[in-house]
Amino acid sequence: WFDQAHFIPPDAIFALTAQYLADPFPQKVNLGQGTYRDENGNPWVLPSVQKSREILSQKLNHEYLPIVGLASFRQEAAKLALGPELFAKQQDKLATCQSLSGTGALHLAGLLLRAGRASRPKIYIPEPTWSNHHQVFASLGFQCETFQYCNPETKGLDIDSYYAALKAAEPNSVVIIHACAHNPTGCDPSQEQWRELARIFKERQLFPLFDAAYLGFNSGNVDNDAFAIRLFIEEAKLEAGVCLSFAKNMGLYGERVGCFLLATSTEETAVKTQSMLEMLQRSEVSNPPAYGAKIASTILADATLRQAWHDDLITMSDRIRSMRRALYDRLISSGAPGSWEHLIRQSGMFGFLGLSPSIVLKLREQYHIYMAGNSRISIAGLNEQNVEYVGDSITECLKQ
Ligand code: LMR
Repeated sequence: WFDQAHFIPPDAIFALTAQYLADPFPQKVNLGQGTYRDENGNPWVLPSVQKSREILSQKLNHEYLPIVGLASFRQEAAKLALGPELFAKQQDKLATCQSLSGTGALHLAGLLLRAGRASRPKIYIPEPTWSNHHQVFASLGFQCETFQYCNPETKGLDIDSYYAALKAAEPNSVVIIHACAHNPTGCDPSQEQWRELARIFKERQLFPLFDAAYLGFNSGNVDNDAFAIRLFIEEAKLEAGVCLSFAKNMGLYGERVGCFLLATSTEETAVKTQSMLEMLQRSEVSNPPAYGAKIASTILADATLRQAWHDDLITMSDRIRSMRRALYDRLISSGAPGSWEHLIRQSGMFGFLGLSPSIVLKLREQYHIYMAGNSRISIAGLNEQNVEYVGDSITECLKQ
């Protein structure tokens, strides 16, 4: 049956983690996969999550959730992304479905986009992007197109290329948007540029599909990080899909907690798309996992716990910002050739260094510093103990 099967190379990011774990070198540094680490390089269970777990442990059961997920979680997730005012206005025109984290939400969005139309829309994806975007949509049979998002000279956002791509896109296509903290470049449009983007989406009848994996994690403030989502739905009156993940902002990586939200323009469409999501979810995973969604909704629904979570967001985003600065300072003080301004202009979990593949390889093989092949580093992997080693190693490599 399977003698025609092709061998698919392992996923680059997960393979990198495995390589790092197998490396016996004591000073090894993992800047690969985007997972938060505390100041000692250890995984961090957020104190708000810890508290939520304690509350839950007293009343936990293992019953099935409804097919579309935990109702309180779906409601709280939508309120979080839209903010309470927009949520109140939009709630009857929303379809929501709990998903297997952000990837599952993107996949559900793809299933819905495929099921709801006579022909498959094209999917426009920024280049570079998160390594899984193409796979999720290509595996569902969509034609994926790319557009240049980052200017290789400035290592910043290429907004003119973005505008031009949207203006040239086929009407009724879908565009993947990183809601904030663009992965891997760390470069987001300004508020002014978001406004212009929304205007072009409207004019060209494009469907915005937000990948929102970093709300609150980027700046420490959910309202800032959800700016584009709210602008597109409220001010530009666009229908939009939002793929939420609680992997990063609650540190619930392995619990697979996510939600797909669809903001439609009529109540009738919301009812119909909600029913479609229910059918699509049932045929795929039957019903989603419960534990992580219960942890998240317990936090979001309780004012005290929610405040504790906001404090945790600040802890994480502040530490990342200060490590970004520390790496920049070390690169400058050790005389790393070239300009590094781009590193401090970027924001979020990642730094996009702009190193060549051969330098990335040298850093891995000779210095045991692991980063994605495109020279994206997960800044959370830096700490006071290793940041100088990383800065000095990059400088040495570049000077050789
Ligand atoms: C990353 O970009 O490193 C993370 O989002 C982990 C993943 O699933 O790729």
